[in-house]
Amino acid sequence: MKDIMTAPFLTEVRKLLQNMYRLGWDERNGGNLSYILKEEELTPYLDVYKVIRNIPTNFDASPLAGRYFIVTGTGKYFKNVYDDPENNLGIMRVSADGQSVELLWGYADGGRPTSELPAHFRSHISRLSVDPEHRVVLHTHCTNVIAMTFVHSLDEREFTRTLWQMCTECLVVFPDGVGVLPWMLCGNDEIGIATAEKMKEYRLCVWGMHGIFGTGKTLDEAFGLVETVEKAAEIYVKIMNKPILQTITDEQLWILADAFGVTPREGFLEPRK
Ligand code: 13P
Ligand code: ZN
Repeated sequence: MKDIMTAPFLTEVRKLLQNMYRLGWDERNGGNLSYILKEEELTPYLDVYKVIRNIPTNFDASPLAGRYFIVTGTGKYFKNVYDDPENNLGIMRVSADGQSVELLWGYADGGRPTSELPAHFRSHISRLSVDPEHRVVLHTHCTNVIAMTFVHSLDEREFTRTLWQMCTECLVVFPDGVGVLPWMLCGNDEIGIATAEKMKEYRLCVWGMHGIFGTGKTLDEAFGLVETVEKAAEIYVKIMNKPILQTITDEQLWILADAFGVTPREGFLEPRK
């Protein structure tokens, strides 16, 4: 067996979480990640038949039965993941009945998956139903998105339109827009179900006064979506109290959509003239 510390997927996860911590998005244990791994990525490093322990999921994850994941641990600090992945991350397989996960590596100090596991796993189920290549769910407390949810309407059309207007490339990066949930209690199945409902239609879901969920086929894609929204939110927070002299019009957004071959979510732009 090769040393798992040299596995490319693990290096990628460690670097991503360190970067997010350095961006100031993931204070303390704020934020979490789950990433679908392929069996062939794991077998050079792990005996996938050696289960360390079973951890109950407390919800039905059976649509993911047999799938492998790397998941951040609950209560674990993003700050510490890079130097100590074995305590802060876990690699697991969803059991055949979907009632538990089989821990194969990590959570070495007795840890468990993130408390947002229902939101992650249920979002994976939603995204896989529309994109078989989907692999990543990323939750973070990015500062400006949270700030924006205090001062902006949480209507999805209005929220998305404002983000699209903040930087030219936003429409190109997330033409499908952002789903938005109001403040809800976190860490339970109810917010998991609500998030997964949004994820049937969106790759991004803002949690009011809390943070954001981003998804993608790769870590880069999920992170890229979130950082683009966060950048737009930052610009919004910088300009919101200033006189606006010009903006990007809907007509210009249509020109952009045509030029880049993207389809804005139906009804979110005013119809073309
Ligand atoms: P966990 O430490 O359980 O991952 O929770 C952090 C968080 O961001 C809750 O929404
Ligand atoms: Zn959170």
